[in-house]
Amino acid sequence: MRKPFVIANWKMNKNVDEALRFLSHVLARLPDEATADCGIAPQSFAIYPMLQLAQRTPLQIIGQNAATRYAGAYTGEISVRDLAAMGVNYIMLGHSERRALFSETNQTINQKVRAALDVGVTPIICANEEQTCTVVEGELQPAFRQLQNVLDGVPAAVVPRLVLAFEPSGAIGSGHQANLKLAEVGCHAIRREVGRIYGPQIANQVRILYGGSVNPANINPIMALPNVDGVLIGRASLDEQQFTRMINYQATSLAGAI
Ligand code: PGA
Repeated sequence: MRKPFVIANWKMNKNVDEALRFLSHVLARLPDEATADCGIAPQSFAIYPMLQLAQRTPLQIIGQNAATRYAGAYTGEISVRDLAAMGVNYIMLGHSERRALFSETNQTINQKVRAALDVGVTPIICANEEQTCTVVEGELQPAFRQLQNVLDGVPAAVVPRLVLAFEPSGAIGSGHQANLKLAEVGCHAIRREVGRIYGPQIANQVRILYGGSVNPANINPIMALPNVDGVLIGRASLDEQQFTRMINYQATSLAGAI
């Protein structure tokens, strides 16, 4: 049974005061720990105060990026080893904005993934469809080579606890209605690729999230898709009421069913 994971990706938004105010609101409204994991990925300077405030709660405070190295003369970089020392458990790596705007390659993302795993931080590895993406017999074939390279050297034993995310580039930040078929086919294709590399048993355990214009109106049908185990939410996660509704999506779906 794969536990759902709902994550806010704040990108370059919210100062410390705004982040802490938002966090206090959300901490009072977390869903039952057994039903879903929840996390917020703030800007790096807000991680420490947020961790302090979220101490002894199940909410994860997540890094948006980290360097391939642990320490040294790398001005402006963030050490995943020092994030781990602070108490960070998850780090987002390979987001499409990192690839497109900051020229991150599969090779650098692979180095970051391995650096994170070596200090006990779980990577949330984002994959978007490659330009060569095609529809084969009604099925999209995204992200294949990308994942193979990004997971290079990652031992099978750690793969079940990795989190992967499918983020079709056209859907990110578009505010358009998320395409349910694309979400399911993409996440399924990623699971199949993990299965090809590590075997179907491991592929069945790994959590795969969907990201791209998720909001309170579409989260329930997205979470009902068989291969989608969670969501990565950008724009709609900046609003505390919308995010609170989304982390409690299961309560809403129950209410709707009654
Ligand atoms: P969006 O962003 O929800 O604003 O589309 C998603 C993401 O980039 O993680």
